[in-house]
Amino acid sequence: MTDPLLQAQIDGATAYEALFVPALFQPWAPRVATAAKIQPGQRVLDIACGTGVLAREVALRVGSQGYVAGLDPDPGMLTVARRLAPDIDWQAGTAESLPFPDQSFDVVVSQFGLMFFTDRQQALREMLRVLVPGGRLAIAVWDSLDNTPAYAAEVAMLERIAGPQAANALRAPFVLGDTGVLTGLFDHLGYQGLTLSTESDLARFPSVRAMVEADIRGWLPIMGVILPEAQIAQLLGEAEQVFAPYTGEDGAVTFDSPAHIVTATRP
Ligand SMILES: C[S@@+](CC[C@H](N)C(=O)[O-])C[C@H]1O[C@@H](n2cnc3c(N)ncnc32)[C@H](O)[C@@H]1O
Repeated sequence: MTDPLLQAQIDGATAYEALFVPALFQPWAPRVATAAKIQPGQRVLDIACGTGVLAREVALRVGSQGYVAGLDPDPGMLTVARRLAPDIDWQAGTAESLPFPDQSFDVVVSQFGLMFFTDRQQALREMLRVLVPGGRLAIAVWDSLDNTPAYAAEVAMLERIAGPQAANALRAPFVLGDTGVLTGLFDHLGYQGLTLSTESDLARFPSVRAMVEADIRGWLPIMGVILPEAQIAQLLGEAEQVFAPYTGEDGAVTFDSPAHIVTATRP
């Protein structure tokens, strides 16, 4: 029988793959893979792989002669990733302490993980260590909340109804939006040829309720915030009005969600 904690993590990851991946993360996988200039036959590591949307895109590009590893600390994410793509080498671990030898990858990629690492510069040092000389890094992070008005509106609603802890949990994905702060992380680490491009894509959730419930019941608990049911009901009630500017006739919620893609190489 599966341990109840692991089962809860698998359930969380299954919901993440079903709702968040198509709405927010899937569109970025081909962009990050293209920025990383993935070639057939390469060895590629996807850090903070989650359920593996980027690793799966990379696996298509490296082909049967290549090798793809996906790393994440969450066993639920890895269980779902393994079910979806058993041929990828899924490994448990953190970005700050990569379980791989020096110079073992041609390319390292990571999308929407860097903001959650406890020591971002240590993670970037580790990425450099496992790259071969001439190897390439491509990392995506969300632009700032100011440049993502739909989420800014949801954060304001959370702050008003549920308080600062809940609001801060939803601010967390956007904390590396400042390009100076983001590129500053790479200072003096030994990378060369740093580039940053800010690109836009449309996020799309099937309904206001689906989006807000995913954030409140799916995301906030990961950040340690569990709201009472009465507050959730109030938030869901008010969300229809908050998201009205982004809601189409079919009820779907669509909005710009820009992100920064940083690339660099190991000399
Ligand atoms: C928003 S998800 C992104 C997942 C995936 N890259 C995608 O595009 O769907 C962030 C991921 O970062 C992982 N994560 C959090 N802290 C980490 C760390 N210190 N090292 C590696 N991954 C971490 C989480 O487990 C989670 O799977």
